[in-house]
Amino acid sequence: MKHILAAVGVALAVQTVNAAEQRIIRISTDNTDLVLQVAPNGRLYQTYLGEKLLHESELKNLKWQVHPASDASVVERGWEVYSGSGNEDFFEPALAVTHSDGNPSTYLYYVSSSSKEVEGGVQTDILLRDDKYPVDVTLHYVAFPKENVIKTWSEIKHQEKKPITLSRYASTMLYFSRQSYYLTEFSSDWAKEVQMSTQQLLAGKKILDTKLGSRAAMHMQPFFTVGLDQPAAEMQGDVLMGTLGWVGNFSFTFEVDNVGNLRVIPAINPYASDYLLKPNETFTTPEFIFTLSKNGTGEGSRNLQNWARNYQLKDGKGSRMTLLNNWENTAFDFDEPMLAGLMKEAKDLGLDMFLLDDGWFANKYPRNSDTAGLGDWDVNRAKLPGGVPALVEDAKEAGVKFGIWIEPEMVNPKSELFEKHPDWAIHYPNRDVYYYRNQLVLDMSNPQVQDYVYGVVEKLMKENPDLAYFKWDCNSPITNIYSPYLKNNQGRLYIDHVRGVYNVMKRVKENYPDLPMMLCSGGGARCDYESLKYFTEFWCSDNTDPVERCYIQWGFSQFFPAKAMCAHVTSWNKSASIKFRTDVASMCKLGFDIGLKELSADELAFCQEAVANWKRLVPAIMDGQQYRLVSPYETNHMAVNYVSPDKSKAVLFAYDIYPRYQAKLIPVKVQGLDPNKMYKVEEINLMPGTESTLETNGKVFSGDYLMKVGLEVFDFKPLHSRVIELTEQ
Ligand code: GLA
Repeated sequence: MKHILAAVGVALAVQTVNAAEQRIIRISTDNTDLVLQVAPNGRLYQTYLGEKLLHESELKNLKWQVHPASDASVVERGWEVYSGSGNEDFFEPALAVTHSDGNPSTYLYYVSSSSKEVEGGVQTDILLRDDKYPVDVTLHYVAFPKENVIKTWSEIKHQEKKPITLSRYASTMLYFSRQSYYLTEFSSDWAKEVQMSTQQLLAGKKILDTKLGSRAAMHMQPFFTVGLDQPAAEMQGDVLMGTLGWVGNFSFTFEVDNVGNLRVIPAINPYASDYLLKPNETFTTPEFIFTLSKNGTGEGSRNLQNWARNYQLKDGKGSRMTLLNNWENTAFDFDEPMLAGLMKEAKDLGLDMFLLDDGWFANKYPRNSDTAGLGDWDVNRAKLPGGVPALVEDAKEAGVKFGIWIEPEMVNPKSELFEKHPDWAIHYPNRDVYYYRNQLVLDMSNPQVQDYVYGVVEKLMKENPDLAYFKWDCNSPITNIYSPYLKNNQGRLYIDHVRGVYNVMKRVKENYPDLPMMLCSGGGARCDYESLKYFTEFWCSDNTDPVERCYIQWGFSQFFPAKAMCAHVTSWNKSASIKFRTDVASMCKLGFDIGLKELSADELAFCQEAVANWKRLVPAIMDGQQYRLVSPYETNHMAVNYVSPDKSKAVLFAYDIYPRYQAKLIPVKVQGLDPNKMYKVEEINLMPGTESTLETNGKVFSGDYLMKVGLEVFDFKPLHSRVIELTEQ
């Protein structure tokens, strides 16, 4: 279907449209409607965003003006879908343009819209145009009915004679009219990712943003939840959950206006980024992905997790490899025999792969610490005389796959790369250089640098076609913010740098579509849904203390499926048993990063069994539905369960973190089971020689009983955990 409004002509002469032409555009999922309407003034307004309306015929009753004129001297105002700077709206715009003649105003009028089927849903494209300047904005929406997710982005283009300057370029704008709004944000730092906190949004603006450029989500994650009328809750209430697919500077603006309405503006952060857009060049904003749930964040998370696995995540429906990593165990200090030994240990544990971390490269300035070598991706011959091919062979012999760590967007000044191409690194030509982790960020706005970074992967793959996995790291924010390549056009740096990063990620995926890749950024500072088109999983945090991991995994699971979240068993917090550490990591994509020699025979046997159990439970944990049952933020315990798609298998994870003396222990009600199926309850992941103390162990209950009465799985012992397998009989 293609509709073109005749009233809005090719000649850009935009007139007032009459009632019959007040086109209504409906963007629907199974549960949600976003309704837009062309008003008599020819502009496009949001008339509704909420629970799906049953009767199409009633959409015309929705009102476009939210500030009806009280007298003739006051202009009628509505929720303009993509409000431009300089118009009669007194609040934050979506778009701000300074035209080539210096005029700072933009009024966008509806021109046409069309819709088409795309994978998983329907895409609606709406063209808007300024009446005085040849500036076009196209709004794109993809509605995924089954998952109740809407993905939206915009494109800005012009045909003025000279470049125009963009100083605001939102992905979209959403409006709400409720009694109250509560924002849950996910602030972070190294080893302290996704700290959830909630505050009420009152009059004025609250902005969540980052200016780090690269490793951009180190202090704030690119996602948020808004509780509508009440703080977001797990199992009830209306919530908006949104995330931006942008691995650079982002900003979420929440503005409550004079009458208590909220506008939400997800965007690239315009900080230091006045963007000079050339005629006919298209500025594409990042995708903003959101869901509205009537039943709290639990349902909202499942919407996003399902959507991600079905359509966005690289190989979202495929399998994942369990692995042994060596970073926590050896750091930079290893040689080939040691690694070959670790590969055998990986096999012994029942793992699929060995992942070699940092420290394997550079010769003139060997990578023996984080002070040198980044940029020189030739194998370090002193440590590894046989090169990567010998390691691939060792892995084959051990019977595991082999993966490798890279950090290709970075350079240590102590490197041959920097000696040869100092102008490839972002830094000021005329000031003292400051460093983060002794390194500089390569200038990805420069196409030559993009080729070089792509070449890091290509060279390794050409030499070692059997390389099975990459961990791609990014440990520094952009420091010394000046691009030698962009010269006097620095306003583009933060944005074009990110576009360059995506160009390379995309190229890697195009050429190696089946290569699993882990996204990492000094722990969990990269997990945006644009990058995840090119990555199968991400590293949630360098903090692998299982207590902290309970909170971190609870936080990330709000927006990501367990399949995308890597969790490793390590030696952080040895006061927690190996069982507790493994049980916590088993909630996500399981891996190990520990020397097996430090484990006792019982502990090793436990780990072997836990790996086998995890593999058996893949249909539930990786491909099933997740239910967060008991929050570590609200109690001293935590519980989560997963159910396989056919509901024949489920697993319940229960953790006693710091139980209080004689506190009331409440049975945990499982969710998502088939009420009419009978399930056998079996505690698994038991240490050798111990037996389950669960009263219900070995017994059979209906799904109905397990969901209404629940299981008594909590205990008074600190750092105690239980994994319970439920199998249909
Ligand atoms: C980052 C990562 C770690 C590890 C080190 C290596 O900190 O998050 O997992 O790879 O780099 O230097």
